[in-house]
Amino acid sequence: MEQYIIKGGNPLSGEVEIGGAKNAALAILAAATMTDETVTIDNLPDVRDVKVMLKAMEGIGVIVERLDKHAVKINGSLVQNKSIDFEFMKKIRASYYLLGALLGKYKRADVVLPGGCNIGSRPIDQHIKGFRALGAEVKIEHGLIVTKAERLVGNHIYLDVVTVGATINVMMAAAMADGKTIIENAAKEPHVVDVANFLNSMGANIKGAGTDVIRIRGVEKLHKTEYSVIPDQIEAGTFMFAGAITKGDVLIKNVIPKHLESISAKLIEIGCEVEEFDDAVRVISKGELHHTHVKTLPYPGYPTDMQPQIGVTLALCEGTSIVTESIFENRFKYVDELTRMGANIKVEGNTAIIDGVKNYTGAAINAPDLRAGAALVLAGLAAEGITIVDDIHYIQRGYEDFEVKLQQLGAQIEKVASERDIQKFKLKVG
Ligand code: EPZ
Repeated sequence: MEQYIIKGGNPLSGEVEIGGAKNAALAILAAATMTDETVTIDNLPDVRDVKVMLKAMEGIGVIVERLDKHAVKINGSLVQNKSIDFEFMKKIRASYYLLGALLGKYKRADVVLPGGCNIGSRPIDQHIKGFRALGAEVKIEHGLIVTKAERLVGNHIYLDVVTVGATINVMMAAAMADGKTIIENAAKEPHVVDVANFLNSMGANIKGAGTDVIRIRGVEKLHKTEYSVIPDQIEAGTFMFAGAITKGDVLIKNVIPKHLESISAKLIEIGCEVEEFDDAVRVISKGELHHTHVKTLPYPGYPTDMQPQIGVTLALCEGTSIVTESIFENRFKYVDELTRMGANIKVEGNTAIIDGVKNYTGAAINAPDLRAGAALVLAGLAAEGITIVDDIHYIQRGYEDFEVKLQQLGAQIEKVASERDIQKFKLKVG
């Protein structure tokens, strides 16, 4: 089982290039099956979730041609069975985007009901509500969501909660429904906008993505396109906090600063300097960092996917900070691991009360999920001594070459797969 081994204490410095947004890429890959023509997508992140999504698509007959590790050609003209099997649903929930895509194009599809995952129950009632509003019959049978429709007809849909997944899934189905659909209380995340732009580049008619009202006029057919995925705001934010927690000076390149505003604002609040350029941000962290409060909210609020990263940083800031997680029920699993490194955090419900400590000490810890795992690596970078992070497959779901990018910034981190590798690392770092 691969692990990361880290010797903490090096302030990070230098430049890092951010890859394509995983959460935009997964939906865009599904949407690419909505035309019979060939679609070219680049700036895909070379991460596990994208690889699994491409396998799920091949599993239903989509032709996938890898151009390089960041680009593919997709052709959905030969899709036969419209049933996404358990194998893929178990690995990534985002396979449910194929439901919206295939329902839109073929007026039928079934997908294994996605279970909860390690950050919360993750219901899909709003996806189902949207599909039914468009005229689809949606049944749950033997753990499958089975959808079919004689025809899909546009409707006025009010989402009960702000949900990225349901906004995107309903937008895809509505793109090929008859007539006009309005989605109220829509999610405004950058990746929602990216999927809308992608669909429009295929001939869809979607307006208002990025606001809470999205207006869609259905079209008969979608056509080929060439598209580049937006930069990943969460990968970017993770490296911004890596610079902050190690008291470094890092230039994060190939980003859209506008997408990072809530993250930059929090870094400035705790005492970092943040400089914005056209497609880069620079984070400089000198001297003492201090406490603040943060509550996760739908975009443009502070992202839930950046909650563990600010949590591990605040645990080293002087004073008492409060972190409130308003999106998912179980997103503080990193706290137990961090306590083993010396953190002083008390979790009560969806709130963490953090009393800053002077330093972390390295320990053997486990990555509990994707973002908590990445955050614990940041803690290891700041800790005194050696940290070994296990279960790094979670981190590899969403971060391409995470340890390589950190090494390029001066971090002493390696991926190891044996006791021998660990001993070699320890000898090397002394
Ligand atoms: C997407 O998940 C992302 N995943 C998540 O990123 C991200 O944390 C989340 O959006 C919020 O930004 C992908 O894009 C693949 P939601 P999603 O539907 O779409 C409730 C990562 O680390 N809800 O916006 O599943 C839900 O319980 C991952 O990259 C319903 O009640 O999230 C939650 O409280 C983790 N009913 C809230 O909405 C529904 O039908 C937001 O969930 C759907 C959601």
